[in-house]
Amino acid sequence: MIIGFIGFGKVSQNLVKLIRSDEIRFISSKENRSQSTIEAIDRSGIEVLPTFEEVAKSADVLISANSPKTALEMAEKVGNYTKGIYLDLNNISRETTLEISGCVENFVDGAIIGKIDSNNPAMFLSGKLADKLLFLKDFINVKIISEEIGDVAVLKLLRSSYTKTLSALLIESYQIAKNHNLENEFFDVISITEGDDFKAKSLSRIENTLNNSKRKSEELEEIIDCFNGEELIMVKAALEKFSRL
Ligand SMILES: NC(=O)c1ccc[n+]([C@@H]2O[C@H](COP(=O)([O-])OP(=O)(O)OC[C@H]3O[C@@H](n4cnc5c(N)ncnc54)[C@H](OP(=O)(O)O)[C@@H]3O)[C@@H](O)[C@H]2O)c1
Repeated sequence: MIIGFIGFGKVSQNLVKLIRSDEIRFISSKENRSQSTIEAIDRSGIEVLPTFEEVAKSADVLISANSPKTALEMAEKVGNYTKGIYLDLNNISRETTLEISGCVENFVDGAIIGKIDSNNPAMFLSGKLADKLLFLKDFINVKIISEEIGDVAVLKLLRSSYTKTLSALLIESYQIAKNHNLENEFFDVISITEGDDFKAKSLSRIENTLNNSKRKSEELEEIIDCFNGEELIMVKAALEKFSRL
């Protein structure tokens, strides 16, 4: 079995670390890649082919993990050279997912949920051919959602919309608690129902949101665009909150 990567960043590097089997070989290409990606490929010891087209031709499973902006372009460029499964793990909308599925054969919609560098990230899959990837269960936590391409993309966006909206509420409540000199008590009182790790998780979420508020605003704008037509009162309020941070 040969697994090929289009993109060799954090996602692909972690998959290579986790999928340990004498029966699986990994391939990618350094074609037009940055120094940091070339170094990551060298460190990992995977096989290198001259072009992504050749990677696509040789792979039994071709994993696209590059960026939301390049996912469609790379699928159009090299996707139809593969006879294997084409697994897209980029954070893309349902519409882009459907577009990609229209230009490659054997498409599976995928997402890595949770911390990418954890030892057991969850991989969610949808599509009629998703069961062909069940062998990955030996290495990571794989869950097939449905046979519908696009279902994973919707879940990914919903998760993102939920966590970001919650972060906005958390930041606002924490600020009010601080204004009243009650920040520790604020965490104590919510921990009773939310669990002992609520304070640590919340502080980490607040810090992460404050440090990345511009990117998070852009992601919320994309969510609002994708779910256009749905009721999005809370998400829009979170976007306004982020614009004031
Ligand atoms: N990190 C996460 O927690 C996470 C979780 C779930 C999903 N995702 C999604 O998975 C994808 C990859 O994420 P990541 O964290 O691995 O990204 P990353 O660390 O930024 O790495 C991106 C990789 O893709 C390469 N690349 C960019 N454009 C390319 C192209 N046109 N052709 C071939 N390779 C290209 C980059 O090479 P260069 O260095 O040469 O640009 C780099 O090797 C993204 O779409 C992201 O949204 C990420």
